[in-house]
Amino acid sequence: MIFGVDYYPEQWDESEWKEQARLMREGGFNTVRMGEFAWKLFENNENEFDFSFLDRAIDILADEGIKVILGTPTAAPPKWFVDKYDGVMRDKYGRKRNWGSRRECCSNHPDYIERSKIIVSKMAEHFANNKNIIAWQIDNEFGCHNSTRCYCEHCRKAFAKWLKNKYKTIENLNRAWGTVFWSLSFDSFDDIILPEYNSCEGDYGNTWSHNPSLDLEYRRFASDSWVKYQKMQIDIIKKYSDLPVTHNLMGHFSDIDAYDLSKDLDFVSWDNYPDNQWGASEYEYVSMAHENMRGAKNKNFIVMEQQAGPAGWDILGYTPPPGQLRLWAYQAVAHGAEGLVYFRFRTALFGMEQYWYGVLDHDGKPRRRFFEIKQTGEELKRLENYITGSKNLYDALIVKSYENDWAHDIKRHARGYSYRDHLYAYYKANDDLNITTAVSRGDYSDYKIVYMPAYNVVSENEISEIGSFVRNGGSLVLTFRSGTRDTYNNVRPIPVPGLFSELAGIEVEEFDALRRENHVSGKISGTAQLWCDIIEPKTADVISVYDGEFYKGKAAITVNSVGKGKVYYVGCDLDQSAMKDLAALVARNAGIEPVNAPENVEIIRREKYTIALNYSDNSVTIPIKGHELITDHEFNGILEPYGVAFIK
Ligand code: GAL
Repeated sequence: MIFGVDYYPEQWDESEWKEQARLMREGGFNTVRMGEFAWKLFENNENEFDFSFLDRAIDILADEGIKVILGTPTAAPPKWFVDKYDGVMRDKYGRKRNWGSRRECCSNHPDYIERSKIIVSKMAEHFANNKNIIAWQIDNEFGCHNSTRCYCEHCRKAFAKWLKNKYKTIENLNRAWGTVFWSLSFDSFDDIILPEYNSCEGDYGNTWSHNPSLDLEYRRFASDSWVKYQKMQIDIIKKYSDLPVTHNLMGHFSDIDAYDLSKDLDFVSWDNYPDNQWGASEYEYVSMAHENMRGAKNKNFIVMEQQAGPAGWDILGYTPPPGQLRLWAYQAVAHGAEGLVYFRFRTALFGMEQYWYGVLDHDGKPRRRFFEIKQTGEELKRLENYITGSKNLYDALIVKSYENDWAHDIKRHARGYSYRDHLYAYYKANDDLNITTAVSRGDYSDYKIVYMPAYNVVSENEISEIGSFVRNGGSLVLTFRSGTRDTYNNVRPIPVPGLFSELAGIEVEEFDALRRENHVSGKISGTAQLWCDIIEPKTADVISVYDGEFYKGKAAITVNSVGKGKVYYVGCDLDQSAMKDLAALVARNAGIEPVNAPENVEIIRREKYTIALNYSDNSVTIPIKGHELITDHEFNGILEPYGVAFIK
């Protein structure tokens, strides 16, 4: 099992490397990830290559039995590159992204692509036979620092080409996008624009001011551009090396389609920072991010950057109390991690991230965090056979669609609405009931319940797949704004919920983007704050009705029997407690009994054992008995503060 640290030998005096490697071994680390920001050191001037510093570092690590995951350095190009080739991104206001940090470059810039090819080839060739390297990481966090979408002329031309390939003729595109609206019709693909700043931006508080088809296609294209850029690097590495290739993704991050980005990778890895300068995440939010990353390839993954201490760039997030770093490690494992690499080994003395604390403080002295992480590593080693290749017994799936994320961002329906928050509310409700829930997309047959919240953009094909899942006995949960748009992001000229109408057995007569709260009552009672669909059941039964407004008494939540299965339609948002009641109802109707456990405890079922995680700083008792695998003792049901149990 990979248990490692992210390491930057270039940031330390070479005389310290040996002692650092020794300390790593003492801490139980068997792997480092490195190299991913060292372009300037590898190629000080154009075409002058020197990898010797990394050779020496790899040798020193090898002496301590530590293996290496090598990152390609293209996230931080050197100054000579931007001076000579430009290559940097333009934002939607035409402003140039200045050099001096990282992730400045444009994935469609021919010179960036060319120089990336050269540095990656040289690196792959140089390190191909080094036996101490076990895997490659491509680049670093594609899309980080808002770098997915660029608005330069190279992107515009590449976008036009991408569109031509898809639509074949400009007439097809004009028709599909409805460019007749406001004289937007294009005469040729050369006319294609990017969704840059225009006169509507900012009016009436809107952010997105372009034709919705253009905007959605541009987001697809920008995502594809990074997938293609990544594939270019993977293909080069595969020419020289058989080692597995990964990229460090970013959990909930949605500007790049994680399914597409992962399909060319041998395994997914991702960077997990639950609490930092920008806020503390609820534990369910972190669990969902892990599931999102497992779901990207439907395979177990590793965490390539696991938070190791208090974290921030100028101000700090809070210090993880004793036990919390260990708990976070087990949380990752419980949701599919098969390896953990901590960011970073020793805290930087200089540079942007002086306050992003690693396993060791600035002075390099092992303290509490070092010993806690070391203990975690020792425990995980003992559990290795239980972890590698294991899979949760999933009952439910939350379908996450990147296209829908983008479409909802383009047209946000109601003030305060967010697709990602909406999905999270459903994940949290299920997680709080300890219903083991995946976040991915089809194949649906692995699950009893599928949530397709706000599945706004939908194709006929998707309807037929989910339809057979239901007819074969599955439960499907749909929510407001589902089914109403085609894949060009145009509204379908049929009653709401569009292509889902037959499955849901309803018609939405009217809706209300709320100006004040409304309440629902019935089998599920609660409060809506954003949206109410006023439902006319056709073949569906009513679960709850509205208590107020001109549609008082009208259906708010329904259920329809289809074949052997059921389709729920939830016409409004709900407070979290009602959401939980709803998830419990859906589960029970599908023959799944939620597991009762104290608040802030997460229980996850696997074939051979159950994992219990206590996210609170109190001891709690849970109603599960058995043999505890970490301690190899009988489990008495008590979880210490931030405690964990693997119960057989
Ligand atoms: C990640 C990134 C690392 C480091 C870390 C802490 O997003 O991959 O290089 O910057 O955050 O800020």
